[in-house]
Amino acid sequence: MRRPYVIINCASSLDGRIGLADRRPLKISNEEDMERVHKLRNECDAILVGIGTVLADNPKLTVKKKYVEDAKNPLRVILDSHFRTPEDAEVMRGNAKTLIVTTSTEFRKGNVEVIKCGDGERVDLEKLMGILYERGIKKLMVEGGSEVIGEFLKKGLVDEMLIFYAPIFVGEGAPSIFGIKGSGIEDIIRMKIRDIRRLGDGYLLHLIPERKL
Ligand SMILES: NC(=O)c1ccc[n+]([C@@H]2O[C@H](COP(=O)([O-])OP(=O)(O)OC[C@H]3O[C@@H](n4cnc5c(N)ncnc54)[C@H](OP(=O)(O)O)[C@@H]3O)[C@@H](O)[C@H]2O)c1
Repeated sequence: MRRPYVIINCASSLDGRIGLADRRPLKISNEEDMERVHKLRNECDAILVGIGTVLADNPKLTVKKKYVEDAKNPLRVILDSHFRTPEDAEVMRGNAKTLIVTTSTEFRKGNVEVIKCGDGERVDLEKLMGILYERGIKKLMVEGGSEVIGEFLKKGLVDEMLIFYAPIFVGEGAPSIFGIKGSGIEDIIRMKIRDIRRLGDGYLLHLIPERKL
């Protein structure tokens, strides 16, 4: 299957949590990490998140001029099977193009295009990867959240993964890096460490799936 090169990026607590249990926004990245994230966004053709992230954090998913002077704002891709993206969500604003991927409806309005991909309960990720590739998306950054990262890893659609760890503990019940229910040894996904480096008061872990080696 021809698909974009997929980089997962997230910020985590030491106990593997990427948000709060009550889903209020939690800033985990430090300033050094923010700069790295915005530069990485600028190098990618598209940034993808799930509807859970849009509803919890209302992210802009754009590149800040503060970090990248000639910011180009990649396409924003939202996995949203039942089209729950609020009309006033930041991703609906005209400062970048947005592709909302559903299993229920399609239309186009201004900078927002809504397409249908898959007939099941959820967006068909493999099919979507093909569609994005055909549309010229060669490098895709997946920014979360928990379920989406889990699905990409489970389906073997990941080429690289970057996790910024902040020196905090969040606790049980909060969304984790890998939001997929596992039951046995066959569900374990093995990664290899490519690099690990200090980033301000945290550290950055650079991983690649074991099957890639
Ligand atoms: N620290 C970080 O780096 C970071 C980054 C992003 C988010 N977060 C946090 O992560 C949390 C949100 O994570 P989340 O797990 O609730 O939501 P999510 O992963 O952002 O979105 C999950 C939703 O996406 C939709 N979806 C459609 N097709 C899918 C598919 N094939 N695979 C997976 N999902 C699909 C599903 O909703 P439908 O069935 O309605 O389509 C699903 O419930 C928030 O607390 C947020 O703050 C943290």
